Amino acid sequence: MRIILGIGGGIAAYKAAMLLRLFSEQGHDVVAMPTRSSLNFVGAATWEALSGNPVRTSVFEDVDSVNHVRQAEMAELIVVAPATADLMSKVVTGRADDLLTATILTATCPIVFAPAMHTQMWNNPATRRNVAQLRRDGFTVIEPAVGRLTGRDSGAGRLPEPAEIHRQALAVLTSQGTENPDLTGRRIVVTAGGTREALDPVRYLGNRSSGRQGIAIAQAAADLGASVDLIVAHLEVEAPEPTERLRVHRVSSALELESSVHASVLGEDSADAVVMTAAVADFRPKSMATTKIKKDPDADDAPSIELVRNPDILKGLVDSRRRGEHSAFLVGFAAETGSPEHSVAELGEAKFRSKGSDMLVVNEVGSELVFGRDETAATILVATNDGIASESVSGPKAVLARRLMTRVASHLNIGS
Ligand code: CTP
Repeated sequence: MRIILGIGGGIAAYKAAMLLRLFSEQGHDVVAMPTRSSLNFVGAATWEALSGNPVRTSVFEDVDSVNHVRQAEMAELIVVAPATADLMSKVVTGRADDLLTATILTATCPIVFAPAMHTQMWNNPATRRNVAQLRRDGFTVIEPAVGRLTGRDSGAGRLPEPAEIHRQALAVLTSQGTENPDLTGRRIVVTAGGTREALDPVRYLGNRSSGRQGIAIAQAAADLGASVDLIVAHLEVEAPEPTERLRVHRVSSALELESSVHASVLGEDSADAVVMTAAVADFRPKSMATTKIKKDPDADDAPSIELVRNPDILKGLVDSRRRGEHSAFLVGFAAETGSPEHSVAELGEAKFRSKGSDMLVVNEVGSELVFGRDETAATILVATNDGIASESVSGPKAVLARRLMTRVASHLNIGS
């Protein structure tokens, strides 16, 4: 695929070099199109060497080939990273005084902006107006990350990590022609990862959940415009960078997860949906040893550990909704291996009935299936007036995440 990487004049321009690598390592042909001011940060030699393509900044180079029209026609995707406040304001008003803006004005392919600037510039009414107008005009504007800025200060306005820009740019392409529900104004709570139940200060009971599916769901909800609280227990992968739309809360045990879920769902801001992807331990040691449990070197015996039940958080949410304490749409996940007596589908339906949630996603798991992998195969069960409707989805976890959030959005929109 031919991708144009536009580079605006901001200090984060250096991160665009990594983004270019991510695209070209996937086999895409990337044309780097820096603005003239961005060359103060990263020079043309870097872009030419990394992309293997010549670098131009002005429409008065290669005039014989009418370069901006040729580039715009060949491009299947344009990603601008970093997108400065100035560059976005130019695109909003249709200005075209260099090669990048002239190409953007001519192009018909999807165009993604990844803004980077100081928090004050990001929050300035002029920038907010321009971003809103770009979105209305059909451009995708990625939310900047919240974190350390150029100097010692921090806030919203950081360029997201290259892997995140890469993920969102490709998500824009794959979602073309599919349903794109709008979750703007909705608050979604997602839990991810596996809880750890402490035995002593160094040991715990844990599980093999990687957190990938829950993270993909939180990202899909944020991509569709929702305000997301992602509560993560232990993960095998990095948690996403927080943005103004995606807040990340960290917990460890089932009881901590329960308090965090309650604070998010039963607090002042009402949640529209809760997706319980986390693998919550059903049992915890009755008491945690305050010092490390030691073996007796002269004996072969082993200690017995007494376990007690943890609360069922999802069931608790079903009960509190019944008592009128919240009105969130509730989605559960079930990881099943199946057994000689019962198929995965039978176990999934039985669990759906016993949990009382509005939706249950059933994954078949085994030594080679689902845990820690990017691909998944799942059945989405939904409660209907006539019983249970089901839909099978297989493919990358991001695809299941998008499908699930599309279904959640349509339930929320019918309900409101
Ligand atoms: N769950 C929960 N609280 C628990 C256990 C599970 O909220 N203490 C949620 C999970 O986040 C998931 C769903 O319930 O959304 C199903 O989890 P699972 O462990 O498969 O179900 P269990 O009810 O624990 O059944 P099993 O006996 O098969 O472990």
